[in-house]
Amino acid sequence: MTFACGIDFGTSNSSVGVCDADGPRLLPVQDGATSIPTALFFSFDDHSTTFGDEALGRYFAREPGRYLRAIKSVLGTRLFEEGTRVRHKRHSFGDIIAAFLRFLRSAAGETLGELPTHVVIGRPAFFVDDDPAADAAAQHQLEAAARTAGFSNIAFQFEPIAAALDYERSVAAEEIALVADIGGGTSDFSVVRVSPERARSSDRRKDILGFTGVHIGGTDFDRQLALARVMPALGLGSRLKRKGLHAPAWYFHDLATWHRINFLYAPKVLAEVRGVLRDSAEPEKIERLSRVLQQHKGHELLAAVEAAKIELSGSDLVALHSGVVAVDLEVRRAELEAAVADSLQRLHSRIEDVQRMAGLAPGAVSAVFLTGGATRMPCVRECIASAVPDAKLIVGDAFGSVATGLALDAGKRFGER
Ligand SMILES: Nc1ncnc2c1ncn2[C@@H]1O[C@H](COP(=O)(O)OP(=O)(O)OP(=O)(O)O)[C@@H](O)[C@H]1O
Ligand SMILES: [Mg+2]
Repeated sequence: MTFACGIDFGTSNSSVGVCDADGPRLLPVQDGATSIPTALFFSFDDHSTTFGDEALGRYFAREPGRYLRAIKSVLGTRLFEEGTRVRHKRHSFGDIIAAFLRFLRSAAGETLGELPTHVVIGRPAFFVDDDPAADAAAQHQLEAAARTAGFSNIAFQFEPIAAALDYERSVAAEEIALVADIGGGTSDFSVVRVSPERARSSDRRKDILGFTGVHIGGTDFDRQLALARVMPALGLGSRLKRKGLHAPAWYFHDLATWHRINFLYAPKVLAEVRGVLRDSAEPEKIERLSRVLQQHKGHELLAAVEAAKIELSGSDLVALHSGVVAVDLEVRRAELEAAVADSLQRLHSRIEDVQRMAGLAPGAVSAVFLTGGATRMPCVRECIASAVPDAKLIVGDAFGSVATGLALDAGKRFGER
């Protein structure tokens, strides 16, 4: 007997779930972990490709190679077509995503005793904002990658609907819930009528009162914090010798954006940065930028920023250690909150939109279910709570809800195979 599985292919983390007579469960994917970083590492030493925590471990052990993160963010964009060069070989992002999905499928197969052939893959409300053609292309690209990975029956479910299906398992009576899934790349919202009775029905279209999303997530908060607090020390906004000119800003934007970092390691860019260094009126800053690029330390730098962001969920003041650029900074929670304020404003209006879309009277939403890693940020929670002031906040499994809901959906659509 094989199972249909659900895959949450996340910008930052990925999980696999299955559903059997005992209900949905998450499968161990790597060393017992049910959620692994969506990361790959191409080693220049042994020419292997590794995934998840092993990829992370090799990159941080400074093994020579190419590290890739946030590959989901490339779906539907021009970068998808460009691919990425690893040493002398060009890899298409379709093949890279397929390799990652194949890894998840094999891990599931090890636990299940057979490789799953049927899958429900989660997708955000929008892969790409305000561009339906690019959004449709993104789903086709992901579907093609899943096929290359060996899945023959592939369905998609919206991530915020999947999270609602997981939440519904815990409700005792009918209610209208807002599900907020703030992940690494996207924020997704659904307004869903949930109840123990409705959970048994297979067609839930009438219970989905509205859903929407926006391309804002934890990786944007990393970028915004990096640009506000770290990149100035590497030369963002620094003066050139020619009066009135500044170092080009795009290096710093790319260095603060997980899926763009590798593009800065191209020989052409390194040569350009050497030119900027010669023209710089503040060369000690541009030297830091140059060192990070030459030593391929971009991910390490951004990981330090992300770690500071995560620590700020529990403290008001943290040290941002970055051996890479030899700058040690203190960052306050208020500085992070100022850096992400515009994004939070946009999240707030999306939550208002989805309630309007659902045609609900004020106060009709009685519960807000939080999932996704970025909902651990106090300012994100406050932003959501302020848009639905009368509802109770329920904190779900930040990293497992979507995969659990996808597994439930896979069980309903495909049953046990
Ligand atoms: N305690 C925390 N405080 C703040 N942010 C956190 C915390 N824990 C994790 N994060 C952030 O949550 C994000 C990852 O969340 P999650 O795993 O839900 O995303 P994802 O499912 O991979 O992405 P998406 O659903 O957008 O494709 C990262 O940006 C990470 O930095
Ligand atoms: Mg997610």
